[in-house]
Amino acid sequence: MRALIFAALAVAALGQDAAKLIQASDCSSCHAVDHRVVGPAYSEVAKRYSGQTDASNKLAAKIRDGDGGMPAHPDLTDAQRTEIAKWILAQTQSSPSQAEVQAYAYALKDATTVQLEFPLFVDGKGPKVTKDVFHGYQLYNSYCYRCHGTDATGGQLGPDLRRSLASGMKQQEFLSTAMTGRKEQGMPAWAGFLSEKDVVDVYQYVKGRSLDLVPSGRPASEQD
Ligand code: HEC
Ligand code: HEC
Repeated sequence: MRALIFAALAVAALGQDAAKLIQASDCSSCHAVDHRVVGPAYSEVAKRYSGQTDASNKLAAKIRDGDGGMPAHPDLTDAQRTEIAKWILAQTQSSPSQAEVQAYAYALKDATTVQLEFPLFVDGKGPKVTKDVFHGYQLYNSYCYRCHGTDATGGQLGPDLRRSLASGMKQQEFLSTAMTGRKEQGMPAWAGFLSEKDVVDVYQYVKGRSLDLVPSGRPASEQD
């Protein structure tokens, strides 16, 4: 009985430590348990490796060396990487989240209508942008403006992101480019510094700018 209780406590402690390590590292910028962010959902990974012997060592090695769009993690110890790998392999329960996709229609200046999967404005139309879009504006003008231009108008060092979206870049690609960076081209990686929600908020703001629906300068917001 006592041994059982100790075993249960040890497992709980292991889970806690792994969760803490993940929180302290950059993982959550690119992974979630139940949906793809930049990298696969942990539940997908657990499914893919279920029943494979040596799975935790394989995953620990990938976490150490990096893999595709994932950076290496030399800062973690072998024991820490193995603990995280075991925790990931245990995330088998969760089914993919089925967020309902809603559509928000906006009339553009050229009289066409565009459908977005998120709202830009409270009350269905301007001028007050949602909290998320306003947060995106604040983050953009703290971290991205330096290269991509104030209010997403294009800069000396980086491309005009309004144009990137206008020519077809989707949220998923925006998110993975922002988190992974393109270091050789001068685009920093934001994983570990900005969260998934942060970058999605920036995306929403830039999308509003690219459609010329959100004005340049500080937009009015629901907090005003
Ligand atoms: C910049 C984004 C990014 C960060 C940060 C990141 N990952 Fe990844 N990760 C990815 C991508 C993208 C893949 C898929 C790589 C591929 O298959 O080409 C991946 C793959 C993996 C895999 C292997 C999945 C498989 O099926 O083989 C594991 C395990 C993993 N990541 C765990 C982690 C952990 C743990 C951390 C934090 C210590 C982390 N990742 C940080 C993007 C990231
Ligand atoms: C130090 C300069 C710098 C900063 C700061 C910066 N970027 Fe970039 N970014 C670049 C450069 C340079 C490129 C073009 C890379 C290339 O040539 O492929 C780029 C490209 C991108 C692209 C891809 C555009 C395309 O058309 O392919 C996205 C998306 C992006 N950045 C998002 C962001 C976001 C979001 C932020 C703020 C969180 C940010 N960047 C901050 C320099 C920067």
